[in-house]
Formats: sequence, structure tokens, C-alpha cells
Amino acid sequence: MIRTVIGAERVQGTPTPPGDKSISHRAVLLNSLTSGSAHVSNFCEGDDRTAMLGCLRALGISIKRIRHTDGRTCSDCFYVRGRGPNGLREPDHVLNAGNSGTTMRLVTGLLATQPFFSVISGDRSLKSRPMDRVVRPLAQMGARIMGRGQDALAPLAIRGGDLKGIEYEMPVASAQLKSALLIAGLYAKGTTTVVEPALSRDHTERMLRAMGADVRLEGSTISVRRSDLVTMDVWVPGDISGASFWLVLAACHPDASLRISRVGINPTRTGVIDVLKEMGVKMRLENILEDAGEPSADVIVESSRLKGIEMGGEIIPRVIDEIPILALAATFAEGRTVIRDAHELRVKESDRIAATVEGLKAMGAHIEERTDGLIVEGTSKLTGAQVDGHGDHRIAMTLGIAGALASGQTKVTGAEAASISYPRFWDELRLVTGSAVTEEELL
Ligand code: S3P
Repeated sequence: MIRTVIGAERVQGTPTPPGDKSISHRAVLLNSLTSGSAHVSNFCEGDDRTAMLGCLRALGISIKRIRHTDGRTCSDCFYVRGRGPNGLREPDHVLNAGNSGTTMRLVTGLLATQPFFSVISGDRSLKSRPMDRVVRPLAQMGARIMGRGQDALAPLAIRGGDLKGIEYEMPVASAQLKSALLIAGLYAKGTTTVVEPALSRDHTERMLRAMGADVRLEGSTISVRRSDLVTMDVWVPGDISGASFWLVLAACHPDASLRISRVGINPTRTGVIDVLKEMGVKMRLENILEDAGEPSADVIVESSRLKGIEMGGEIIPRVIDEIPILALAATFAEGRTVIRDAHELRVKESDRIAATVEGLKAMGAHIEERTDGLIVEGTSKLTGAQVDGHGDHRIAMTLGIAGALASGQTKVTGAEAASISYPRFWDELRLVTGSAVTEEELL
């Protein structure tokens, strides 16, 4: 599908990103392992949620979308009935993780603990993404896992059970890898310890603690021992990764003001706020709250004068999903922005370094690719063009925002990819820009 976006004259309103994807996934998966029932509300939207729910249901978990009988609706509320730590059943078909790396890696961590046979696969993009990072340590713990490319690629065939704890130095700062090992550690004999090279998002640790697991944290070392989890209702805050599109749109537009309510502000995810502030963006947080160990706030952002910055090292895992949209912000900044140490972007839903550079360059940005990042010379000027989302939700949405900031008309092909994490994105873009965002089918 092609979306045509016209440069916006004004940006205002209150866009509402869906519930945080990472927290939603963990909330249903971990509650599935308890012996009770839980409500997870403001659940994430889109195809990645379908992937996670589909895998858990295929393992025997009942998850229902609910509406209150008194007429109230709880926004996107799901009711999860756990089957206890050992209640999962052998699936009778191949589990489909779709496009979702989080689903594949976290569910593989869980399947590694189960005394049955299972196979998990996904779409073309997911089948090309590295799974050896989870397969290797899970095999060290005692699971038998085979896959294509010498056990590095899905489909993965898993026969799990009888794991023993290991101490593992993670080669990459990846929350998906860390979470897979911590989930496996809930069932392993002894202690499972992971050491991260830099801190990645810590939603799993927070939720495991809140659900009563024996988790210990010491700097970048996290240990877990065999534990039974207690059920926990979760209200999922808005996804800061979804909010980042609006933060950059408002910051870079000359006549803009946006308020985004109840966005998750877990410090391991707020790199985008820190970076935009360092670039000079006028932004403030109001109504800070905490629920189930996760803080949230309203974020208010307005037109700003941005300056280029250099970023790399420890901040990268805290902005890993926001780098494409930050690269767009850099095209509106005065001076040069350098992003380094971001190799991981090459193995996301697409090669996000190449896809970002291709799209923004086609619109006139002065942007160059580096092996581990990119360099942008800010020009504050983009021109509408035909650009491609590469089947990647974050690239399609970045290019949609670029279209709203550019002069003339931008056509984003593969725009339907936004539905992976933010199905309402194009409608909300139309609402906040007040300009035409039209849709045509590719024939
Ligand atoms: C996620 C972790 C990140 C991120 C992904 C979601 C998670 O990947 O890119 O969108 O929910 O754990 P890493 O495994 O690289 O941290």
C-alpha cells in the first residue's frame, strides 16, 4: 500500500500511541506461567501482538479480549488464565512469530524449558535474523535446539526441559536475549546469571521481581533462580517508541505543539528523550505515575531549534528502536550529527541503517551510511519523493513523518508495515497535521 503525505502547515493535538509492545509481551507471557488469572490493559496493538498471543494460545493458554459487563470498556484489555509453571501443552503446529523478534526470542527461552517438542518460525524478515544468540546459551543450559544455517536461523526445532543455570557474558546488549535467558532461568537448576555489555531495557527484570521471582541485580549482572510467579494485573503505559514519531514531528516543525498522554518513561527506554533534549528540543513531562513497577508521564513537546550531536556507546541500547526517527531529527538540526556503535540496527526488521539512509537521501537529506551508524549534516530541508518502507514498521513511519516535514508530496510504499506496531499511525498523522494522508493500493 502507498500512503501519500503532504507537507503539514501546522502540527497540533494529542496522538495516542498504543500500549508498550515490550511490556505487553512480557505481561501476557509471564502471567501465562502463574496459577491465576490477570488483566492486562492498554495492551499493544498490531500484528506483533497477534504473533505473541497466537504462540501462547497454541501452548494451551486461554487469553481473551474483554469488555466490562457494566458497559465500561477497558481499553484493549486482555484476560490471561495461567496454567501454572508446568501447564503448557505441546503445540500441534508450527508456532508463528510473524515479524516479531521479541516473540521468537522470548518464546524460545520458554520452550527451552518445556519437556516437549516444538517448532517456531516467522516471516521472511524474521527468518533472516540471528537466533544463534539465543540458541547457543540455551543449548549450554541443556536445551536441544536446531535451526537452519547451523542452528542460527528459524525455523527452530526445540526439545527442552531439565535445564541447569549458567553464567553467561552476553556478546550484545539485547533485551530479547537477556529475557530469553531469564525466562529459562526460572526453570533451571541453580542460578542463571547474565552479564550485559551495556544496560538494555529492563522490563523483564522489573516484572519478574514484581511477580515474586528470585531476581538479583548488581550493575550489569542479573541473576535469577528457579521461582514460581504470582499473577499480576498490568496497566501497560503508552509505547515511547511509538511516541517518538510525534516527538520528532513536533520538535522539527516550525508551528507545532503536541501532548502525548501516559507514555512509559522507564529509564532504560528514555534515551530518545535524553537525546532530543541534548539536541535542544523543548519538552516537558507532567503527571508522573508508576504502575506495576513501570513509570509513565504525559509528554509535551513543541517546535524547537535543534543542534547536531554525537552519540554512541552506552546510550545506544536505550535508543535502539528510535535511531531512524532520530536520524530524521538530525536532518533538521544545525550542524553535524554522528551516530555510532549501532551495528545492531543492521539485524532488525530490516537493515535500518541502509533503509534510513536510502529513504532520507531520496528526500534530499545529506546523510551517509557508516558500518555501525550514520552521519547527517543538518539542512532543515526535505523535499517530497517516493520512498520505500522496506517492510519495516519503524522505517515506514519515519518516512511518513519525513513526508509531513517535507515540502510537497511524499509517497511511502510498503506503508502497511506500520500495522506491525501502530495500526492507527496514518490516521493519527492525518489528525495531527490536519492535512491529507491518502491511501492507494499497489496493483
Ligand atoms: C525488545 C528489545 C529490543 C528492541 C525490540 C524489542 C524487547 O531488541 O529492538 O523492538 O521487547 O525486548 P534487542 O534485543 O536488540 O534489545
